[in-house]
Amino acid sequence: MKLFDVYPLFDITLSKAKGVYLYDDNGQQYLDLYGGHGVISIGHSHPTYTARLTEQIESIGFYSNSVQMPLQQELVEKLSTLSAYQDYQLFLCNSGAEANENALKVASFYNNRKKIVAFKGSFHGRTAAALNITDNASLSAEINKDNFPVEFIELNNEEQASHALSRGDVCALIVEGIQGVGGLDMPSDDYLNYLSQECRKYGTLLILDEIQSGFGRSGKFFAHQWANIEADIITMAKGMGNGFPIGGLLIHPKIAAKKGMLGTTFGGNHLACSACIAVLDTLKNEELMNHVVVMSDYIKQELSGINSIKKIKGKGLMLGLEFDFPIKEMRQKLVYDYRIFTGASANPNLLRILPPLGISKQEVAPFIQALNEIII
Ligand SMILES: Cc1ncc(COP(=O)(O)O)c(C=O)c1O
Repeated sequence: MKLFDVYPLFDITLSKAKGVYLYDDNGQQYLDLYGGHGVISIGHSHPTYTARLTEQIESIGFYSNSVQMPLQQELVEKLSTLSAYQDYQLFLCNSGAEANENALKVASFYNNRKKIVAFKGSFHGRTAAALNITDNASLSAEINKDNFPVEFIELNNEEQASHALSRGDVCALIVEGIQGVGGLDMPSDDYLNYLSQECRKYGTLLILDEIQSGFGRSGKFFAHQWANIEADIITMAKGMGNGFPIGGLLIHPKIAAKKGMLGTTFGGNHLACSACIAVLDTLKNEELMNHVVVMSDYIKQELSGINSIKKIKGKGLMLGLEFDFPIKEMRQKLVYDYRIFTGASANPNLLRILPPLGISKQEVAPFIQALNEIII
């Protein structure tokens, strides 16, 4: 047997990780500014995280959603306080795509409509409905296409949004807090307020995909909270479990649950809840969201002297550095010569960085230095 060969891989085997650092099988240290696609939020092998997971697996690792789950209650309480979505309902699943899949389903159950408005440059995952609302036709097989009508509109274009919604037949509009895979473009605060108001006017549910931009990544719990709006449904994953697979959706109280409406075998299991609770405790105890704001300003300031960076996109510690040349070679150099992991996106000129949220000025310094050296 061999692995289904779908991933382009670095020639690196990791055997250990701690905080912001990764170590390969030769003991070589790497600075992790990408967290395996934005997953590592509180840092690799954080002591709170390892202690909580170890303790959990020694008592009970898994049982399905057929028994009482006090851990899910603990998660709900901590999540509602930190996210400020106090009266919402939580459904737990296992990944980002699954969270979006369920969000669309919940929206359609609620208003019985099936048309979705999504955005150019969007990425929402690789399952059937999530692919249908992702602006990249090359990822879809025949079987995924045209399951339901989708209109892709331009980010920050009010006219297109109003035109798409005004027929009154749109089930949901879905927008990323900050576009990840697409290249770190984001809806402006004014635009989010506009969308929120238009959605309400036409009975369309507003879904915020915070799978990459949520859980403190932007400096607020969810990126859309910078705009002071409330969404009807918010989807989450990635940083939520700091590496343990967990996803979820927050659902407005006006949407009533019915037994059997949604379901999953693994979602919300004991280990997944423990991982997420450790993340929430650490976000709170280490005041990581304040730290993200400070570090974001610091990194932007340090990078402002590099002329070939045309623009710094994104918010908090979800940043896209847009150069005036393709970054492919630079990214290879960063990994193999400077031992620094960074990310790419659909924009060939954009370097994506999503470091662990607790990264310090000293820890990020080798990256700033490497960029200065490579670019000169
Ligand atoms: C904004 C956004 N939504 C959804 C997904 C899909 O998440 P997953 O890979 O966990 O299915 C991703 C993954 O990159 C994402 O960035």
